[in-house]
Amino acid sequence: MHMPGAAPSRGVAYAEGRYMPLEEATIAMLDRGFVRSDATYDVVHVWKGRFFRLEDHLDRFERSVAGLRMTLPLPREEIAAILHGCVRRAGLADAYVQMALTRGVPPPGTRDPKLCQNRFTAFAQPFVWIANEAQRREGLSLVVTKTQRIPPEAVDPRIKNFHWLDLTMGIFEAQDRGADVPLLPDRDGNLTEGPGFNVFALHGRTLVTPDRGMFEGMTRRSVIELAPELQLAVEERALHASELARAEEIFLTSTAGGIMPVSRLDGAPVGEGRPGPVTRAMHDLYWRRHEEGWLATPVDYEGG
Ligand SMILES: Cc1ncc(COP(=O)(O)O)c(C=O)c1O
Repeated sequence: MHMPGAAPSRGVAYAEGRYMPLEEATIAMLDRGFVRSDATYDVVHVWKGRFFRLEDHLDRFERSVAGLRMTLPLPREEIAAILHGCVRRAGLADAYVQMALTRGVPPPGTRDPKLCQNRFTAFAQPFVWIANEAQRREGLSLVVTKTQRIPPEAVDPRIKNFHWLDLTMGIFEAQDRGADVPLLPDRDGNLTEGPGFNVFALHGRTLVTPDRGMFEGMTRRSVIELAPELQLAVEERALHASELARAEEIFLTSTAGGIMPVSRLDGAPVGEGRPGPVTRAMHDLYWRRHEEGWLATPVDYEGG
């Protein structure tokens, strides 16, 4: 959905102190963010003209930046203003909004990350859905991959990062097995996450979600907070692949799409092979709260 009167836009980016069409934005080839995946980022969404959990996303971004021993070149209020600025200039009512900090370019002749000037970039583009319309209606097919997620002892998954080669190879593995999306286990067979989403399994009235080896998604947090309203308990703990296989319902969570049902796991139906009532109820509650303005910040479309 676009703002009335605004030209449809593929997105607007901010880099090096100015705004530009997203398709024209580039990263310096020697930036360690590009050549070493030495970067962190966060993604917040805008729905019907309002950011969702903007302050929580900014908090998480600041924690990630500190975790990588980087420094933001701008104060938090200016970062928020730039995010508003990208959405405003893109004329979007529903948007996927990224902020990123790359390590920057080391001075010639060195490789010392401390000597780099960290670079802030941002963009807003039309809202992104991990699952297409049919998948959201019928449910996704999911496979637990042989590819393991990089261990948290190596790369802290709570710092949102671009270390996606395991997730990307997982996507190929899922496609080779005729499925839509992969879910990566750790080396003990406990589940972690997939490319851009967390996972929940329903057993009775209890939702179980992994508590280690994965990014602590904002949508995951929203589900944990909303669960009591649906008389659901939540357990954050190790979730083994064999336990997922016995789940009555499974759903995935992401800023890029919200609550997404899974109807097949490793080729077999989940429950009755279609989105279950608890998944539907959580989906509806999540989007109803958006309509009601829960944790919402109106986009500053006027500027100033
Ligand atoms: C690896 C990974 N896991 C989980 C998520 C879900 O997090 P959120 O709900 O904050 O979008 C993401 C977000 O894009 C992600 O990249």
